[in-house]
Amino acid sequence: MIDIGGGMSRFTDAVLAMGLRDVTILDLSQVALDAARDRLGPAGGSLTWLCKDITTWSPTRQYDLWHDRAVFHFLTDPADRAAYIESLTRAVRIDGHAIIATFAPDGPDRCSGLPVVRYSPENIAVLLADSFAPVAHRRHLHQTPKGAEQAFQFSLIRRVG
Ligand SMILES: C[S@@+](CC[C@H](N)C(=O)[O-])C[C@H]1O[C@@H](n2cnc3c(N)ncnc32)[C@H](O)[C@@H]1O
Repeated sequence: MIDIGGGMSRFTDAVLAMGLRDVTILDLSQVALDAARDRLGPAGGSLTWLCKDITTWSPTRQYDLWHDRAVFHFLTDPADRAAYIESLTRAVRIDGHAIIATFAPDGPDRCSGLPVVRYSPENIAVLLADSFAPVAHRRHLHQTPKGAEQAFQFSLIRRVG
């Protein structure tokens, strides 16, 4: 699997605990990748770490699962969104899956001072309809460290031919 914008998130710890071993973490920030690798210690040595911008990265292999929490919604330029979708489509094998989590329509319109695009599961499905079929979606209210609530939508989609 590949975690897009994995940054310092503990998602990687969770997938390792589940027994997954072929795991790639991609992030724009080398600082974030180094912090995650340091935290994981020896367990991080078996992972693939890619310091890349998702809007310019070209995948060189395919994955069963693509996971993105809170990256796609930062892409406000249509050209960047098109580049992301191109990489997503190339990187996920037929019948593989992607989980794309973004702020929901009633979520914040900015994050860390940056503008975001908010999506419903229906928006995500329409945007990716050429190559992905919707499977399931879930709403989640994320509690920030300062106690604020942020509404997310998580879309699970399947790569179709
Ligand atoms: C809001 S954080 C989310 C981190 C993690 N996915 C989580 O849910 O906790 C966004 C992450 O995406 C990375 N990021 C932002 N734009 C990116 C891009 N164009 N390409 C790759 N990573 C990017 C940031 O460096 C940061 O680590």
